[in-house]
Amino acid sequence: MPLLEVARVEDLPPGTSTEVIVGVDTYVVCNHEGTLHALDGICPHRNGPLGAGNYADGMLICPYHGWEFSCVTGEYDRNPDVKLKKFPVKVKEGLIYILA
Ligand code: FES
Repeated sequence: MPLLEVARVEDLPPGTSTEVIVGVDTYVVCNHEGTLHALDGICPHRNGPLGAGNYADGMLICPYHGWEFSCVTGEYDRNPDVKLKKFPVKVKEGLIYILA
């Protein structure tokens, strides 16, 4: 499982998210109330780029059709069986890494 450097901690304050593209893989990393979460960045509906959408109140909002996913659990708000994959996050020396 490679460790991917995705952002600087200071660039992702609470209440923000960012899209991370590594090769052919897309992730979204969000900071919910000071805790970082990394998730699959592609919407399971029709492949919308979740990291390019809005992030509000802990929810990632797909820019294509508005499906909303919890940044904390990865669950789609209308059907928790539809869930984004989550990835472990590490912070070291001011940098955020995900294990993907
Ligand atoms: S592609 Fe994300 S809501 Fe449709």
